[in-house]
Amino acid sequence: MSDEAGSRALTTTVEDGVAVVTLDLPGESVNKLSRAVREEFEATFDALERDGAVRAVVVISGKEDMFVAGADIEEFVALRTAEEATALSRQGQAMLDRVAASPKPVVAAIHGTCLGGGLELALACQYRIATDHPKTVLASPEVQLGIIPGAGGCNRLPRTVGLRGALDMALTGKNIRAAKALKMGLVDELVAPAILRSVAVAAARRLAERRPRRRQPGSWFLDRTALGQAVVLRKARAMTLHQTGGHYPAPLAALDTIRVSLAQGLEHGLRYEAEQFGKLAVTSVSRRLVEVFFATTALKKDPGVTPPAPAPRPVERLGILGAGFMGSGIAATAALTAGVGVRLKDAELPRVGAGLKAAAGIVGERVRRRSLTRREGARAQLLISGGTDFAGFHRADLIIEAVFEDLALKQQVLREVEAVTGAGCVFASNTSTIPISRIAEASCRPETVIGMHFFSPVHRMPLLEVVVGERTAPQTVVTAVAFGRRMGKTVIVVRDLPGFFVNRILAPYINEAGHLLAEGVPIESVDRAMTRWGFPVGPFTLLDEVGLDVGTKAGGVMQEAFGDRLRQAIGLHALVADGRLGRKNGRGFYRYKAGKRAGVDPSVYPVLGVTPRPAPPDAHPLAERLAFAMLNEAARALEDRVVRQPRDGDVGAIFGIGFPPWRGGPFRALDALGAPVAVATLERLANTHGDRFQPAPSLVELAARGGSFYPSDR
Ligand code: NAI
Repeated sequence: MSDEAGSRALTTTVEDGVAVVTLDLPGESVNKLSRAVREEFEATFDALERDGAVRAVVVISGKEDMFVAGADIEEFVALRTAEEATALSRQGQAMLDRVAASPKPVVAAIHGTCLGGGLELALACQYRIATDHPKTVLASPEVQLGIIPGAGGCNRLPRTVGLRGALDMALTGKNIRAAKALKMGLVDELVAPAILRSVAVAAARRLAERRPRRRQPGSWFLDRTALGQAVVLRKARAMTLHQTGGHYPAPLAALDTIRVSLAQGLEHGLRYEAEQFGKLAVTSVSRRLVEVFFATTALKKDPGVTPPAPAPRPVERLGILGAGFMGSGIAATAALTAGVGVRLKDAELPRVGAGLKAAAGIVGERVRRRSLTRREGARAQLLISGGTDFAGFHRADLIIEAVFEDLALKQQVLREVEAVTGAGCVFASNTSTIPISRIAEASCRPETVIGMHFFSPVHRMPLLEVVVGERTAPQTVVTAVAFGRRMGKTVIVVRDLPGFFVNRILAPYINEAGHLLAEGVPIESVDRAMTRWGFPVGPFTLLDEVGLDVGTKAGGVMQEAFGDRLRQAIGLHALVADGRLGRKNGRGFYRYKAGKRAGVDPSVYPVLGVTPRPAPPDAHPLAERLAFAMLNEAARALEDRVVRQPRDGDVGAIFGIGFPPWRGGPFRALDALGAPVAVATLERLANTHGDRFQPAPSLVELAARGGSFYPSDR
């Protein structure tokens, strides 16, 4: 028997008393739980309950490597009031209550992504079977959108995996892989993908005969006694406040909901969950996080040039020049994520060996963390080879250059490699400070020369700036963008001006930190002001991580290009001359013991000729100076068309330097303030601290005509 008339996302087949319901949303790459799908589910369950031939049900997905990605976010953003959002949550809960209370047992057969509403669906089933495959990932990522699981997740998670397991998932949104999911009781059984369906059908048949006794999740004391739970909840609350800096209300709301659910029972807990969901759904934090999500999703479909976009050149083989820190990171990421053959070339054999070893280390780490099988790790490893000559380069489709930061050297390697590569091969430089158009001057085919500015460490940092030179052809742009995306990066296309986008807005921010320090503001006061503002680390910690030598050199390039506005604060050179390079040599603004940071190094002050003042009681004026230096420069960079639109700048700032996501990026932050307030603040800062704060002309213009960077309806 097969198919229901009118069914679109769901198909039902009945095999020997077990109905297999396959979810496969037509015309979509992912399964989402929209209103229409929910209604279809309800109709399907109605029919199955009435069908005497059906004794049990299996829910499975028809998509490749995907169970369900979650609820439909488009529906969620259309919500205007907390009441509407609460009602949506109640509807989702009602549908899943129905599954949970089904007289015929329901088995979830999970392969691939199982997120948010998808996990809530699985939790409502009486039994869960997942595939033991790296692509199988379960999570409740709602907090990352500023909300909480609202279709029963906050209530069913603690009842399935215990209090601690539930907090661990719902408060962070972290991914749980198959082996861990089994261990914590999130799923009941693991199988190979090939037998998922047949094992699920057999389990459903078994369950129809006899319901299993569920084991109690977690430990007796911590997960199940009131006293133990109180201890766990108190600790979790303190940790959440510390990690979110109080900027994100959703994790605390998830914690409260779980607490209420355990203390007062499922019915009350579900009502509380829907109310909390409703309140959070209309907060500005949630709106900003959802906008960032949409911006990154839109970027995934953006070819990088104004349509009509030419087809990208297919990249099968990658050549990398320079097997140093960046070269080895690019090699490992390309082999792991894009699955291409990589040839690393360096000038010296020992460096080739070191680069191959570093790349192997990155691959090995993935295998250890079980995000790759051993076999996949070995396959990635086999893709990477190296040498001191150009062997294999004639077959490369793309070359990424990561040799020392030196124009003459970069031009020399460009000439050398062009002599051995084919005419259509793209040459991308990973330079952070040299203009791509200058490098391209040495090329006999400058239309194939581009910048691919990765961030370090390459395998962890999500952003890539693709830098378009004066003569770069559109096909070169789309090829670099497409390949960057294959490497798993969020790609923004930027113009070839000093600092591109990310370092352009970082420069005045770092400079301002230097000015404060020169005025005697203590290092830790500046860093703390910015972490309170929402950055993951403060500017001095950041400089220590990047390297004071690297930061000072880049700052010098910016000063040369933009003059007084980006003048470096006096003194930073003195620190480099004093042998302070940051974490890498254990001496920076902070001291390091055995690789761990051990407080501010007070000997920095005499080198700068500064006597530190007592910590200022109010961090706001410090944060205001640093933040406005960055926001103003972002507006100037957009005027210079460094980014094509505010969206790209916001994504670049969030993924490149950890700009607070809940503020939505510099352009969203400026819109939230309103241009008139931003201009008035900058004028006040300019009066007190100097012309570097003069508001960007575009801000003045927006203030005059009452405009904003984004259209004001969304
Ligand atoms: P690195 O010093 O670790 O590696 C450079 C490698 O290039 C060395 O192994 C060196 O032997 C090799 N090399 C020198 N001349 C060569 C030649 N003629 N042919 C082949 N290889 C040659 O430097 P790192 O940090 O990897 O930087 C490389 C590039 O990436 C630079 O342009 C840098 O500005 C850029 N970059 C660096 C970032 C970082 O955080 N380190 C971030 C973004 C860009």
